[in-house]
Formats: sequence, structure tokens, C-alpha cells
Amino acid sequence: MELQGLFPLALARVQLRLDPWDLALLMQEVLALRGDAQGNPEPGCAWTGDINGIWQLHRVAAFAAISAEVERQAWIYLEQLGFRAGSVALHIQRSWPVVSEAGQVVGRHHHPNAHLSAVLYLNGDGSGRSGCLRLFPARQPNELVPGLAVGHGGPIDPGSPGGRQWNAPWLDVAPQAGLLVLFPAGTDHAVTANEDEDDLRLSLAFDLALSAPLAQPGEPAPPEYLAPHPAQWSELAPPR
Ligand SMILES: [Fe+2]
Repeated sequence: MELQGLFPLALARVQLRLDPWDLALLMQEVLALRGDAQGNPEPGCAWTGDINGIWQLHRVAAFAAISAEVERQAWIYLEQLGFRAGSVALHIQRSWPVVSEAGQVVGRHHHPNAHLSAVLYLNGDGSGRSGCLRLFPARQPNELVPGLAVGHGGPIDPGSPGGRQWNAPWLDVAPQAGLLVLFPAGTDHAVTANEDEDDLRLSLAFDLALSAPLAQPGEPAPPEYLAPHPAQWSELAPPR
């Protein structure tokens, strides 16, 4: 019998060849931005710049080059997904550093404000001990009975080849210095605990949004299924 995998989710992994010196500088910048903070207000949660005022890294000079590289890779991701050249505009909407101290995690969430998520790891040795990015499937059609694939003692053996391939409740990505990952922003994800007592886990996160390209006078109108380019939106004055 042959089992065919249908409708796969596209996780991109790109190992960027970054100069160790540049990585060290980026890490230094991130730690300076974090300052004296140790984590987010929720106990045990890593420090995430987005809720601590550091949400526009792409507009900070020290992060301009790395943001440009993320943009370049985002275009390649779209191309590989079959997007026609010139059919959409891409925007970095928000970008922020994340720092996990030993024992810290980031809870399961997704980014409903964005369309495409990107994460760049500034450190990590590929072992996953500093905490993995954990990606969850939107649903698990192969567990047949909803909920079977998670939890202990169920009928699905998570260690069997079939369980691993067809009923994995999540996929873990181990951070590696210079590794960039991209995935649809609606994908639920989390960060597992940093189990490295001696090292911080540092990454940069990016929220990207797609819109129609800027429509020039005389050109066709933006397609109905894409938001027009934000430069062509008109903000309403707030009610008085
Ligand atoms: Fe996230």
C-alpha cells in the first residue's frame, strides 16, 4: 500500500552564511535593546521585543542588512510557492528580537495580523537544547478521531514510523546560528524551554504582509482578492 501526503504546509529553511563577527554584533545589539529586562510579564516567558517597545528592528540601522536579506529570502519563498513575479507587494509590518533565558518558553500562538512569518536565529548549535521552534498542524486529519495524536496511552504510537510520518502532533526546528525559517503566519507555533543553563537563545522575528502592488494611474485596478497597497488606503479621522 502506498500512502500519499496531500496538501503540505511549506516550511522554508535557509542556512544563511553570516559572518560570525556580524552575528556577534547583532547579538550585542539585541542584548542592549533588552536592557535590564529578564522576560515578559507572564512568568517563564521569554523577552519578546514586540510587546516591549522594540517592534521596528527593520528601521534600526544595525538591522538593515539582515532585514534586507530576510526580504530577499521572502521573495524566493513566494516564488517557490508559485506566486507570479510582480503580482504582489511584500511589506515588513513588524520585526522584533526574542531572548530566552534558561527555562523560558514562548507559548503557543500565531500571528493573525500578518501573512508570512520569518525567524532568524542568531545563535544555537542545532541540538535544540536552547529551545526549539515548535510548529503545529492546523488539523490532523490522519488521527481519524480528533485528539488522538496528542496525549499518552492513546492508540497511535508516536514513536512508530507511521506515527511519526502521519500523525506527528508537532514539528520541532532546532535553532542554528544563521538559520532562517519562513512559514505561513497563521501557523500555530511555540518555543520550547531553553534547557541550556549557560546560554541565552537569541532570534529575530519578522511579520510580513502581502498586498496588491502599488497601482499606478492608468494601470489595472488591484485584484479583488488582495488588499490594495497600504499607501493607497485612506485613514478615517477618529470619531469626535
Ligand atoms: Fe511567533
